[in-house]
Amino acid sequence: MSFKTVSASKTTITELMIPSYANFGGKIHGGILLSLMDKAAFACASKHAGSYCVTVSVDTVDFLQPIEVGELVSLNASVHYVGRSSMLIGIKVISENVTESTVRNTNISFFTMVAKDQKDKPKEVPGLILETEDDVKKFIEGIERKRMKDVYKKGIISLHNKVVPMENLDKLESERCQVNLKK
Ligand SMILES: CC(C)(COP(=O)(O)OP(=O)(O)OC[C@H]1O[C@@H](n2cnc3c(N)ncnc32)[C@H](O)[C@@H]1OP(=O)(O)O)[C@@H](O)C(=O)NCCC(=O)NCCS
Repeated sequence: MSFKTVSASKTTITELMIPSYANFGGKIHGGILLSLMDKAAFACASKHAGSYCVTVSVDTVDFLQPIEVGELVSLNASVHYVGRSSMLIGIKVISENVTESTVRNTNISFFTMVAKDQKDKPKEVPGLILETEDDVKKFIEGIERKRMKDVYKKGIISLHNKVVPMENLDKLESERCQVNLKK
């Protein structure tokens, strides 16, 4: 089995936020950022895997602060954890206003990418060489994230199968909705 360092696949994409990326309120569209994050995750994962990769899952993305037109957005991607064919890529988004010399952390998210072979089957990726305490911390967090995600997934499936709408109407009493079923 081959191994690669975390630093070998670290990737940064920097892009200027141009007016066509903005919504009617003048702030950058969330979808533009998601697309840039996906590109950074792909670049980082494919460097580590040495092959084509696909996005399998995106963890919660919280947009903590709006990004303005004219800012420089940098997406820093690194491999936190590897399974057999999957890689957990952490993406940190930083927004910089060059005229005011301010830098803000705008979001952080995790993308699971899977390496594919030429027949489109999941392909084994190199293991990770953990060279710093931070690499070790991220890898251990990755194991825990995977476990928590499996628990969450099972919970969501059982929730979907468990909720009988007409037996749970009391749960709606303090909510901002009206039940007005069509006959
Ligand atoms: C996800 C996909 C690769 C799974 O393929 P599969 O033949 O079922 O393979 P496996 O079940 O062995 O899963 C492969 C790996 O993906 C991981 N995986 C699968 N679904 C996952 C999910 N929802 N979240 C996180 N990891 C997942 C598995 O844990 C496994 O990881 P490992 O090899 O490190 O143990 C396949 O369904 C696929 O190609 N999906 C489409 C991806 C795509 O097109 N993305 C672009 C979206 S627009």
